[in-house]
Amino acid sequence: MKLSTNTIKRLVSVAVLLVAQQSSPLSAQTIIPIQTQNNALVLEAGKNKDLNIIFFGKKLNDINEYPLVSGMYKQTEDYTQLLNSVYTPSGSRNLVEPALSVTHSDGNNSLDLRYVSHKETKIGDDISLLSIVLKDPVYDFQVILYYKSYYKEDVVEQWSEIRHEEKGDVTLHKYASANLHLKAKSYWLNQYHGDWAKEMQPEESKLTHGIKTLDSKLGTRANLFQPSVFMISMDSPANEDEGNVLYGALEYSGNFKIDLELDYQDNLRIVAGINNYASPYTLKAGEAFTTPAFLYTFSTEGKGAASRKLQSWARNYKLLDGKGNRLTLLNNWEATYFDFNESKLSDLIRDTKKLGVDMFLLDDGWFANKYPRNDDHAGLGDWQENQKKLPNGIGSLVKEADAKGVKFGIWIEPEMVNPKSELYEKHPDWVLKQPNRDEHYFRNQLVLDLANPKVQDFVFDVVDDLFTKNPKLAYIKWDCNAVIYNAHSAYLKNQSHFYIEYMRGLYSVLKRIRTKYPNTPMMLCSGGGGRVDYGALQYFTEFWPSDNTDPLERIFIQWEYSYFYPAISSSNHVTDWGKQPIKFRTDVAMMGKLGFDIVVSKLPENDLKFCQQAIKNYNVLKDIIWHGNQYRLSNPRENSVASMAYVNEAKTSGVIFNYLVSNRYAENSKTPIRLKGLDPAKKYRVREINLYPGTKSSINSETIFSGNFLMDVGFNPQVNSTRTSVVLQLEEAK
Ligand code: GLA
Repeated sequence: MKLSTNTIKRLVSVAVLLVAQQSSPLSAQTIIPIQTQNNALVLEAGKNKDLNIIFFGKKLNDINEYPLVSGMYKQTEDYTQLLNSVYTPSGSRNLVEPALSVTHSDGNNSLDLRYVSHKETKIGDDISLLSIVLKDPVYDFQVILYYKSYYKEDVVEQWSEIRHEEKGDVTLHKYASANLHLKAKSYWLNQYHGDWAKEMQPEESKLTHGIKTLDSKLGTRANLFQPSVFMISMDSPANEDEGNVLYGALEYSGNFKIDLELDYQDNLRIVAGINNYASPYTLKAGEAFTTPAFLYTFSTEGKGAASRKLQSWARNYKLLDGKGNRLTLLNNWEATYFDFNESKLSDLIRDTKKLGVDMFLLDDGWFANKYPRNDDHAGLGDWQENQKKLPNGIGSLVKEADAKGVKFGIWIEPEMVNPKSELYEKHPDWVLKQPNRDEHYFRNQLVLDLANPKVQDFVFDVVDDLFTKNPKLAYIKWDCNAVIYNAHSAYLKNQSHFYIEYMRGLYSVLKRIRTKYPNTPMMLCSGGGGRVDYGALQYFTEFWPSDNTDPLERIFIQWEYSYFYPAISSSNHVTDWGKQPIKFRTDVAMMGKLGFDIVVSKLPENDLKFCQQAIKNYNVLKDIIWHGNQYRLSNPRENSVASMAYVNEAKTSGVIFNYLVSNRYAENSKTPIRLKGLDPAKKYRVREINLYPGTKSSINSETIFSGNFLMDVGFNPQVNSTRTSVVLQLEEAK
């Protein structure tokens, strides 16, 4: 074999490196690889015990080659030996954005963290927990970094525990969950912004030098303007099937801060955690401060693979009852708003059965007497049935539903209070407000002080009383419609702990609820999608993506959520928003957890027939939609036709939803849409379902296609202005 001059040169330089490597005292070097099925994050502690990130990306075949990686980079000087720190301390050598910044008990602001030890524990076949102890050589101050890795899903959850044994209190000024360090030619940030009814608007931009921050300071409903989920594409913007892309998210429902710092060496530092805004934290000796987890996954095969890993991780390990079932439902919010009584509800319960869904969900407006909840100005906080509207109480409605063979669920918003309420009158000190300033309202309401244990008991009791009085109550829709203004707790001595204590209070209530009621389905709603995150989703079975249920808008909103959350967690309701026909609206809502919020009795006969049949179809397909793999086939932002598919694990059945999203002249599905996730060797039949009564499909369901054909050539759903919504069922032909 003849070697080219270049190959010889390369071999020589590798040999030199290997020699250099071996000549360094091995005992002084600790390599810690955190490996999942496809990826590795590799840490190294050198002679001086700084613990740095030396590799992040697709894992190498030979673990021994990681120490060679750094030598391949000839970037400018690292003046600190900390630029790639695993958890950047501030005030000593560091020159960039820190992960941790403190004032010691003696008033000194400097921190240094050196590697002491690490230990890996196998938690299950798929899960390992690595803990690494770092200590300050001068102060009795330590951090334990935790990495929980999920091998098959390529997901890592990372968090930190901070403690000290100094003589007095230490102030934590910044206390991130995680600190990553990426190397690429360029970095493309995909982030989200929004407002009420405009959730999950994506924006992609090339990161420039300096710090780009994604954050929230809203306290509750923290995602209203910006969620913590994001993607970083490396080298070039990733697409659905190609490119290196990292997904990140903070598992936290309060204020968050994610700093993306493109440093002077052109590396990307990601520092993610609780927002330190207005929140210096006083840490007592011996006390542990545990951060929420920062979650990430990485894919070299584009956004599609990354999202399927994340969705499958969520179903397997995080989302409450992620592998279980969900209830289809009829909700009365848009059907009645606050204007209902027992007889109207009785009709709706009857309609629930007629429609063929599992449950009736009673929304806002059922409570409060002194200040009745007849609109959103009064009553919030007074969780007693309104005597006028419901003289026989919730109990009689639950019974009635039971007798009609449907389940009964109920809306609450237990963290909130209207100033016009008995709760406010009795417990003004339970309400968040500045003692010396005017109150300022969001949807005419204020937030209760969950930092106060009495308020925590109150919120727990709201739920507990409902279940105790109505053991057959099947479901809770937990809403949260206000942000926090005038953040001040009458209970806390140290106001700078407020934002953190609020979240601790909320999670502690949710934990108590789940200890007593482990399985009851609960929807996480926040005046739309203001609050979904994986910190909360471990207590909830589903979330409300947006109050915007216009199906055209929903195609876009659900599309973006689907990158981060599995379809089983997405509550999608058919409502009267938008101009699309009932078929279009129902088809779109079927792409997650189906519900209805319409006046069933006013539906034209064929609309009702259509819905009833669609629910039957959904009951056949829901297992694939909830537990199968989701494939985004045609992006509504780039094409006139949007297409999304769900395929079961065995690749024998699937469902494909297709929509016309442009009303330009003669727009249609001109070319076939390539399917994904099938077995090329299997044969399939494609049949159109969810046909509106009296219409015929233009698709011939007799033709048999190979998986190879469907994935390489594709299939044309024949979407056009007369067929704006087309649902296809795919079955293996044997
Ligand atoms: C919020 C929710 C809605 C509905 C109303 C009730 O806006 O997002 O679905 O429950 O509250 O007031």
